[in-house]
Amino acid sequence: MPNQIKIFNKISSFNKTIEVTSDKSLSIRAILLASQAIGVSTISNLLESEDVLNAVRSIKKLGIQCKKIDNQYKILGYGLNGFTIKKKTTINAGNSGTLARLILGLLVKSEKTVKIIGDKSLSKRDFSRVTEPLKKFGTNIMSKNKSLPVEILGTNFLRPINYIESKGSAQCKSAIMLAALNTPGTTFIKAKKSRNHTELLFKYLKLPINIKSGKNYDFIKVTGLNQFNAFDYIVPGDISSSAFFIVLTALSKNSKIRIKNINVNKSRIGIIKILKKMNCKIILKNKKKYKGEDTADIIVKSSKNIKGINCPSSLNSTAIDEFLVIFLIAAKANGMSTFKNLSELNKKESPRLDIAINILKSIGVKVKREKDNLKVFGNPNLNLNGNFHIKNFLKDHRVFMMSCVAALSFGGNWKIDDKESIKTSFPIFLNLLKKLGAKIN
Ligand code: S3P
Repeated sequence: MPNQIKIFNKISSFNKTIEVTSDKSLSIRAILLASQAIGVSTISNLLESEDVLNAVRSIKKLGIQCKKIDNQYKILGYGLNGFTIKKKTTINAGNSGTLARLILGLLVKSEKTVKIIGDKSLSKRDFSRVTEPLKKFGTNIMSKNKSLPVEILGTNFLRPINYIESKGSAQCKSAIMLAALNTPGTTFIKAKKSRNHTELLFKYLKLPINIKSGKNYDFIKVTGLNQFNAFDYIVPGDISSSAFFIVLTALSKNSKIRIKNINVNKSRIGIIKILKKMNCKIILKNKKKYKGEDTADIIVKSSKNIKGINCPSSLNSTAIDEFLVIFLIAAKANGMSTFKNLSELNKKESPRLDIAINILKSIGVKVKREKDNLKVFGNPNLNLNGNFHIKNFLKDHRVFMMSCVAALSFGGNWKIDDKESIKTSFPIFLNLLKKLGAKIN
């Protein structure tokens, strides 16, 4: 099978410095905001993965010029709603929920109908969570079910809304913030805490945004119709991609890794907080600020005495894309770990909670699920020698990468399908593993 990899050996000890690819959330936001700025924005170190390249293709389809010159992306924007839309325009967001949802926010004033489609996985996901609030602005949205394809035809008669986002979804919050940019007046958003990259970019671009932070919710006001100038942005490394190497190092004997220049925004570092509580050895060095975002090198060492955790669900949104690999740490911990309110995990590129449970059970890890809560009964002596075949996971990139980490950490003979899935977020993943010494066929 050309698209299948085989792993038959645990990884040997390593001590390396690596750079992972750039942050996906920031790359997509930088492109979308550059498409609305006035003038030429320059984005360096853009993540060149399928999700992000689909964002580039999408703004080009909407009449925005974007060229790669000397490794920098130059984007010429014509200001808010400065798209030139041809009849029967279709945008293919591929696998990217972030792209599909955020771009809907930018199209609330579009002069022609735009159809948004996606791949098999994206077409199964819920879009009503953004289309329902967007309709309240007065824009026209047509969709048969709650899912893609969605058609949007904007209006010149937009009105600001009051919106409560209660899932902790940064995609929903951001779509509404982008729609608010094109809407006269002030939109009020009460949003359960989630990654705040859009807020930080709005602040950096000096857009009229006001944020009051509560314990579990943020109260955000965005006033629309303020043009902003083109900008430069250098995208830092992605903590969600780093997560696979953090966990691999923690689970491997006598190993150490330094992962350089990673975005360590407080709303993204749940994995570090959770793993530290479980006794993993992780430190941040070389901390810097960049345009409102925090960056640092992440240093991880092998962890011997991993212990179970009663994971506070307040950390869920800060580790939402990392739970698959956090479960691997729980599988090797001394004692039981409890994770609560994980329903959002089943709303991702694949039903990740269901799939993680199946994988953990298939490798002999005892788990107990009660509704959206999960107990993982750890075994510090977990060591595998059976045959395992990971397949049918809707080509979810993070399930593929989690399986590689499990194989290299726990042993056994593994076949893992859909290698191409890494192109979604982390095209150099397998090359980096090989650089650490992993034997992968
Ligand atoms: C993202 C937000 C999260 C995350 C996704 C990227 C973003 O999704 O899972 O990978 O860039 O805003 P939700 O907003 O649906 O939780």
